[in-house]
Amino acid sequence: MFKNIVILTGAGVSAESGIPVFRSDNGLWENERIEDVCVPSALARNPGRVHDFYNKLRREVKEKKPNDAHLAIARLQKEWPEKYRGSVSLVTQNIDNMHELAGSADVIHMHGYLFSMLCTSCHRHFSFDQDSHPDDKCPLCGRQTTRPDIVFFEEMPYHMDRIAALLSDCDLFLSIGTSGVVYPAAGFCVQARAVGALCVEFNLEPSATVSNFNYGLYGKASKTVLAFVDHLLKTGEALEEMPR
Ligand code: APR
Repeated sequence: MFKNIVILTGAGVSAESGIPVFRSDNGLWENERIEDVCVPSALARNPGRVHDFYNKLRREVKEKKPNDAHLAIARLQKEWPEKYRGSVSLVTQNIDNMHELAGSADVIHMHGYLFSMLCTSCHRHFSFDQDSHPDDKCPLCGRQTTRPDIVFFEEMPYHMDRIAALLSDCDLFLSIGTSGVVYPAAGFCVQARAVGALCVEFNLEPSATVSNFNYGLYGKASKTVLAFVDHLLKTGEALEEMPR
């Protein structure tokens, strides 16, 4: 019987909300070079371009709504602890706010958050939902050293100690809508398997790390995650294939 569940989400969970994934024919990294907007040197070289990239994303995300996969995850977080006395922790690589809008509490944003800014002088984070500019003053220390609160390539993801602790005590690990090519998130399954957790991936097709999982459910997350969560809440057991 499962008790503690850890869920990892990636861009695929928000695809059906109309938020583009990173790696696909029309993905974000097809239209923008990572070196121009998502590495520390880009911020040093052309901060305006980096701010503008995330301003545009933030504006687009503000128009979007959570889909059935986000809603099912939020329902699992609410109902599982009451019914089965366990926990459901949610780690996301996404910088959007779809999980929050779906009702999930305590979303662990390991790659940062579009609705937060970081001050590189006082190292504090603050909520933010407008367009940002490199000259903006930090509301906490007054210096003009704010940047989008996004973890760039070459930077350390947030909350790694907390995530490691959750993975070391989990019985069921669900990886939803991630291509499995960006570490450390792509290695979480191995950590969960090491403590005996059942590991299931949800994707349109097998990911780069499929061999680490016990099995996968393939199709749109709005369908597969919803069916899995319904079954899990009803029986306490993991659904192994999609009902026909
Ligand atoms: N349902 C399920 N999976 C889907 C759906 C869907 N409706 N649509 C797309 N996918 C899958 C794709 O098949 C792909 O494997 O979601 C995955 C998205 O992969 P990526 O675009 O690589 O996104 P992600 O894995 O979250 O990227 C990881 O890379 O660029 C960085 O920091 C960025 O957090 C991001 C990280």
